[in-house]
Amino acid sequence: MFSLDNGFPCAEETAETFWAALHGLVTLTRARRLSAERVADRLALLVDRFVPREDLLGDPHPRRPGERAHPIPQRSVPVPLSDAVTSRAGGESPDDGWTLAHAEWEGEAVTPRSRRATEETSPEAPATASSGGRARTDFDEIYDQPDPRAFFRTLGAWEYQTPHHAQAIFRRMVAAREQAAHAAEPVTVVDLCCSYGINAALLNHDLTMADLYEHYGSAEVAALSTAELVERDRAFYATRRRPDAVRVVGLDAARNAVGYARAVGLLEQGFAENLETAPPSEALLRAVRDACLITVTGGISFLSPRTFQPLLAAVRGPVWVAAFVLRSGSYQSLAEALASFGLVTEVDRNRTFPQRRFTDDQERQYAVEAVTAVGEDPEGRESDGYFHAALHLSRPAPDVTAFPLASLLDHA
Ligand SMILES: C[S@@+](CC[C@H](N)C(=O)[O-])C[C@H]1O[C@@H](n2cnc3c(N)ncnc32)[C@H](O)[C@@H]1O
Repeated sequence: MFSLDNGFPCAEETAETFWAALHGLVTLTRARRLSAERVADRLALLVDRFVPREDLLGDPHPRRPGERAHPIPQRSVPVPLSDAVTSRAGGESPDDGWTLAHAEWEGEAVTPRSRRATEETSPEAPATASSGGRARTDFDEIYDQPDPRAFFRTLGAWEYQTPHHAQAIFRRMVAAREQAAHAAEPVTVVDLCCSYGINAALLNHDLTMADLYEHYGSAEVAALSTAELVERDRAFYATRRRPDAVRVVGLDAARNAVGYARAVGLLEQGFAENLETAPPSEALLRAVRDACLITVTGGISFLSPRTFQPLLAAVRGPVWVAAFVLRSGSYQSLAEALASFGLVTEVDRNRTFPQRRFTDDQERQYAVEAVTAVGEDPEGRESDGYFHAALHLSRPAPDVTAFPLASLLDHA
């Protein structure tokens, strides 16, 4: 016997889908529409796809929801980072999920190749879990809603603010990339874990994060259907579009979120793919070819080199990778992967950015322990009740000299 309760948040849907597939196999085989000879192979394929291997092998330590399948590998390989870089222990390697069918948004490629890394249980799951049980609150259910209202309502309550901190910094980076590229055309930014297009909204429009919270939290917007909100937001963003707007290509595992961002005109192209669990589509690789800046806020700990490597291999010119990374997490394995593409990683050590308030004492304890364990001081930061992120910027060495990190930061 085996269990279909694999700890994923949608165990019920998993069970339904499994039994539906099994029913289909039986019915089609009985009706002789599938050959009887390969029954065993098909069954093995189905069971393999749905049942965690350790359940089949008799895992002596069954997982609780959100727990990782395997211990997180501890990396000891030194990373070729610049002097400014913090080298922290603990890489991460999200486990495989399930494959979904393709979908189209407005005739543009939005390809949900697979569902998101389901082992992750929070917006920024820790690279090093330390408190035994749940380290952080799970916000999964707000990531793939038909529109962003629940995202802003829920995360607003915890003062989620990383895109606000990133806005001015990303704009300065875009300006530096345009200067370097002598670009006549708008440059291309690729936003990973783009969600409902929040970084694109802040980069390309005369809007602040506070404006977005106000807009999506207003009584007027609350009364609209999603279709009405899409229509309204198309105008909302169009009238606030900046003349220096750049092309933003978005990637997120959440199909509805990417679809929304496309529908309201925030993303030039959007891809609902999870590169942690499936290779990128050809369309995605084509879309990132001209990327000069890759951005990430609130998503780094969902990602491993599996996401970055194929994208960086597809980019034709020099590219910068700018990521806001929780201090309780690790950038080590990603910095190593980026180094193999000739990118030198620097960390802004002068400033950290509050990401959001802790939801409870367990989160606080986890974060304080995690940052202390890597030699950082939680005083005045995590101790004061907030997760904090640090900006990591990875670039070709000549750009590190030509555009000193300090010149790109707002506290310069
Ligand atoms: C906290 S939200 C951050 C959204 C946005 N970047 C921001 O800062 O407001 C995390 C996002 O990561 C996405 N995500 C999680 N795992 C992913 C993966 N493997 N690949 C792409 N996106 C992923 C989620 O769907 C969600 O939209």
